This record gives sequence, structure tokens and C-alpha cells, in this order.
Amino acid sequence: MYTILIMSRKGGSGKSTTAMNMATRFAKEKYQVALMDFDPQKTLTKWHGRRDDYFQGNNSILYTPCSQETFAVEHQALEESGCDVLIIDTPPTISDFHDDLLKASDFALVPTKTTMEDLETIAEVVDSIEKNETAYGFLINETKNKTLLYLSIKDVLVEYGAVLGTITGTVQIPEASIKGLALCEYKPDNINCQQYDKVFKNLDRRLKNKKK
Ligand SMILES: Nc1ncnc2c1ncn2[C@@H]1O[C@H](COP(=O)(O)OP(=O)(O)O)[C@@H](O)[C@H]1O
Ligand SMILES: [Mg+2]
Repeated sequence: MYTILIMSRKGGSGKSTTAMNMATRFAKEKYQVALMDFDPQKTLTKWHGRRDDYFQGNNSILYTPCSQETFAVEHQALEESGCDVLIIDTPPTISDFHDDLLKASDFALVPTKTTMEDLETIAEVVDSIEKNETAYGFLINETKNKTLLYLSIKDVLVEYGAVLGTITGTVQIPEASIKGLALCEYKPDNINCQQYDKVFKNLDRRLKNKKK
């Protein structure tokens, strides 16, 4: 099983949105996908509930209720159940529990918007990931074309690690979430679907290389 941790110290950087859109993208490839949500806001949990309603019993994505105390047991159980991909959403903090999550993860994906406030949190996030020797990369989220700010932030990020892709801002992303869908299920023709595809392919390749 591949375990993907979505983390960043910045609220609103797109962690839950990335979790939704990557989960559905892996599921589209016939991977059995499960979600865990450690953010008390429960954005991903609620999205999964709306998805259950939308698909009325045919939701291909599993949701595993989990606490810090039960994480190790639930993680092991998912692995043994034949689950292929576990995607874990986290709150905008860095705690001791992140060490447990990072040690159990094959890859940490760090979404970041192109603001100074996002950038200011990157060093701390990278320190925490590297301390646990977890592979990681960035997703630059909700950009507005190739502004100077975007280019300079990308320059800084690549000094730290790989940028797996860039997702431009579109209102159709939050619109999809209202229905419990990912963008590419809601509006397959949206240009951002190609951007999510690129992130997925980058991530999938890294995971497969790691397990070899
Ligand atoms: N690429 C994007 N384009 C437009 N809106 C986005 C994009 N990414 C995220 N959002 C919106 O930004 C808000 C914060 O995203 P969210 O994924 O909840 O952040 P986090 O989980 O890091 O707090 C949500 O309303 C979400 O729909
Ligand atoms: Mg969130």
C-alpha cells in the first residue's frame, strides 16, 4: 500500500482539496483508495459524506475513521485489507504526531499557494519531513498564471525539493467539492484536469520507483 501524507503548516493552502482530487485520480486508475482525516475541521470527511450521498452506495473511495491513538492499528488493517493507496489529510500544524504519520508514509505532498505567508512556513515543514526521512514534493496551488510572484516562489521551492505540478485557481474546484466530487469528475474539460493529471503521474511514478 502507498501512503500519501498531505501536509502544510498553512491553513487554506489546499490540503483537503489536493486530497480529494488525488484520491479520485488514483481511484480512476482502479487503485483501491482510502482516506484518513486528522484535521478537526473535517473538510475531507464531510466531502466524503457528500460523495456517499451523490453515489448512493457506489462510492469507490473508502473512508477510515481514525484517531491518533488508533492510527497504527488502522494503518496496519488497511494494509492487510488489500488497500492500494491511503491518502491522509492533516491540520495546518506540525506536532509530534506528524512524526508518526511521516514515518508511516511513502510520500509527503506539500500544497502551497503563491503567497509570502505560505512560503514562510516551508522551511519548518521541510525540516519536519526530512527529520523523518520521508520523500516529499510540492504542489503549487491556486496560482494566477505565471506571475512574477509565482516564478519567484517556484524558484525557492525547487531549492528545497521537487515541484510535482501547478494548479491554477478556478471556481469549479470548490463547486465540485459541494457535490462530493473532484474537479475532473465534475468538469472533465477544465484545463486544471490536465494539471492534476501531471501531479498524479509524477506522484505515481515516484511511489512505484520507491517500492522497487
Ligand atoms: N486551485 C484552486 N482553485 C480555486 N479554489 C481553490 C483551489 N484550491 C483550493 N481552493 C479553495 O480554497 C479553500 C481552501 O482549500 P482547502 O483545500 O480547504 O485548504 P486546507 O485544507 O489547506 O485548509 C477551499 O475553499 C477550496 O475550495
Ligand atoms: Mg483542510
